[in-house]
Amino acid sequence: PGKWVRATSLAELLDRQVIGVDVLGVPVVVYSVDGEVFATYDICSHGKARLSDGYLEGREIECPLHQGTFDVCTGQAVKAPCIEPVRPFQTKIEHDDVLVFID
Ligand code: FES
Repeated sequence: PGKWVRATSLAELLDRQVIGVDVLGVPVVVYSVDGEVFATYDICSHGKARLSDGYLEGREIECPLHQGTFDVCTGQAVKAPCIEPVRPFQTKIEHDDVLVFID
């Protein structure tokens, strides 16, 4: 079934733009892009790196290890050496909380 779980506060996300957080044991990274909120799996599909340690430019997150990139809105790989997507998660804002859907 899955459920909505709080990942972080909206204020903190707007401040930091990229936040990595374990949600029910799942490594998730939430992003703020032009006032919208997105989330993907936090581990790069290319290797053992946390995307939340990377660099967000527009809607692309750059992996800190080999500088491949992903579209944070879809999880699709954009730039090599990343080829496989990272899993996207649904997000929603409730009051001042950012929630992600974990199933
Ligand atoms: Fe992310 Fe290689 S581990 S690009």
